[in-house]
Amino acid sequence: MKQFTDRREYQFAQLNENQLTPDPIKQLDTWLNQAIELPIQDANAMVLSTLNPELEISARVVLLKQIDQTGLTFFTSLNSEKAQDIRFSNKVSVLFPWLALDRQVRIKGIAEPIPTHFAKLYFQTRPRNSQLTAWVNSTSLIADSKQYLKHQYQYMKQKFLNQQIPMPDNWGGYIIKPHYFEFWQGGEARLHDRLCYQLCAKTGWKISRLV
Ligand SMILES: Cc1cc2nc3c(=O)[nH]c(=O)nc-3n(C[C@H](O)[C@H](O)[C@H](O)COP(=O)(O)O)c2cc1C
Repeated sequence: MKQFTDRREYQFAQLNENQLTPDPIKQLDTWLNQAIELPIQDANAMVLSTLNPELEISARVVLLKQIDQTGLTFFTSLNSEKAQDIRFSNKVSVLFPWLALDRQVRIKGIAEPIPTHFAKLYFQTRPRNSQLTAWVNSTSLIADSKQYLKHQYQYMKQKFLNQQIPMPDNWGGYIIKPHYFEFWQGGEARLHDRLCYQLCAKTGWKISRLV
């Protein structure tokens, strides 16, 4: 049996109501910048949780590629498990675990596919090897071996030799439109600061402290 007995104090910072911006997207942007500056590697990595028709929850990391007032955008294979889950239920949750800052941000929202032309614009900015990998990984076939994947990659490389690589039909992006945020800052003696934003239809974002 392995037990984890180490404990540490969370002393990095405190989070008070007067430090928060009224707009949670701006607040997230501020924390993202602080995580990038620290630097936390892959500060834009977020854990995305989805639900499947058997009501099983799955979590995996995806990279946040754009954030603005409309939401949080990531890209993926439309054949992937996550995309299938989102087609079943578009209610998703996202977590940024910035442990080096004693922070996490929990978000709940609705995932919507982004228009294909936006996904294509982003796809054209990806490095060529990532574009090729999208052709290999997007097929959602069970691979017999790593060798098979390498072979597929080489095949695609030859196929698109000296050409612009188009976005596969089964690749795209989602925008998560958030209605709930919790900004968590670890505190001394486990007195954590947990400030949440809840979107109210009539009054906009309401900020509360959680215990
Ligand atoms: C740091 C990191 C970044 C990742 N970024 C993405 C991403 O942006 N999009 C994506 O589809 N998968 C990404 N992945 C892979 C996913 O975690 C996951 O393995 C894959 O998308 C298949 O997930 P699914 O079968 O649940 O759909 C990333 C993994 C890691 C560790």
